[in-house]
Amino acid sequence: MPIFKKSTKLNNVGYDIRGPVLDEAERMAEAGITVLKLNTGNPAPFGFAAPDSVVSAMAESLKNTQGYSESKGIIEARQAIVNYCKFKNIPGVTEKDVFTGNGVSEMITIAMQALLDSGDEILIPMPDYPLWTAAATLAGGNAVHYICDESNEWLPDLDDIRKKISPRTKAIVVINPNNPTGAVYPETLLAEIAEIARQNGLIVFADEIYDRIIYDGHKHTAMASLAPDLFCVTMNGISKSHMVAGFRCGWMCVSGDKRIAKDYIDGLNMLTSMRLCSNVPSQAIIKTALESYNNADSFIRPGGRLYEQREYIYNAINGIPGLSVVKPKAAFYLFPKIDAAKFNISDDEQFVLDFLHERHVLLTQGGGFNWPRPDHFRIVYLPEMSQLEYLAENMRGFLETYRQ
Ligand SMILES: Cc1ncc(COP(=O)(O)O)c(C=O)c1O
Repeated sequence: MPIFKKSTKLNNVGYDIRGPVLDEAERMAEAGITVLKLNTGNPAPFGFAAPDSVVSAMAESLKNTQGYSESKGIIEARQAIVNYCKFKNIPGVTEKDVFTGNGVSEMITIAMQALLDSGDEILIPMPDYPLWTAAATLAGGNAVHYICDESNEWLPDLDDIRKKISPRTKAIVVINPNNPTGAVYPETLLAEIAEIARQNGLIVFADEIYDRIIYDGHKHTAMASLAPDLFCVTMNGISKSHMVAGFRCGWMCVSGDKRIAKDYIDGLNMLTSMRLCSNVPSQAIIKTALESYNNADSFIRPGGRLYEQREYIYNAINGIPGLSVVKPKAAFYLFPKIDAAKFNISDDEQFVLDFLHERHVLLTQGGGFNWPRPDHFRIVYLPEMSQLEYLAENMRGFLETYRQ
């Protein structure tokens, strides 16, 4: 009997947000246990609906979107993205510089496959949105993690970035606003990262999918707007801003000094052509969606659901003995620190499994975001208040006696 094993390429690839702890939650659900799943940033199941205009645009597009499109996407979508880039001061982006994708996720995978040879290094934040590390590793590269400093609002540690650059470093990834920390980076810091990239000849990848979910009037600056002389790849999409994660709708655009990246762009063209095109009905809503780019505004202002949920969960978690958390400025995640010594925690996956078994709430361990110590976990604060109250009360009760 043959035994079919996965390829060795996958040996070091991890994606714990949908990993073994989720498998266990699904086993529990099959056994009839109700589990509150707080593992993915997926707004729709928590009662966030897409704007009617976007849903109608998709419905109306169905008659005319049955064929493949150009690999980069339909021109109306790319024009709308070009306009959005102008609005964000990302210089020199034309329709030719835009690639639509089945979510930012597909773009990240393609961008890494096109770039990395075996042994090439790419700087990725720690903690990170783990697809970046997984995609870089799958592409044969080495993800080298630079520290984001919890004691400094989770901002990237520039000295650590500098220390980790080697002759094999090809690129740096900046996730701003950040998942899982909710940090928003000041312009001065972004300019310093751009300067490091300039001095070391790095490509800059900017993942800015949360740029329209920012609280308290904090300002988002597009990384590429500060680096017109560098080669930049900016990723964005409407999964979060328009609550349509299931439509799989994202894009990337190349900007800055494109001449030095001609060959790499050829690689992007080849890989996007090989998958033919992204979902065309989803492309057809990009123009409508970006015309209401501020769709999330009503949720993120005081009184809005996301704003109030953030206030509640931030205060509730900070009030639990043994936990502390930096207040997120954006997105819908909390990345609390747990006093590992107090609770004798040496395995963060075991911690979230124990919480799942005892309290029936699914969280993700910090290690799932390539955080190196067993002392963090991530909460998705999309659920309505009563569920967040359930989470906070249960976390408090659980930690009263928990010792690993
Ligand atoms: C930072 C970041 N980038 C990219 C993605 C993927 O988004 P998409 O739905 O566009 O594939 C996510 C999803 O959670 C994310 O948090």
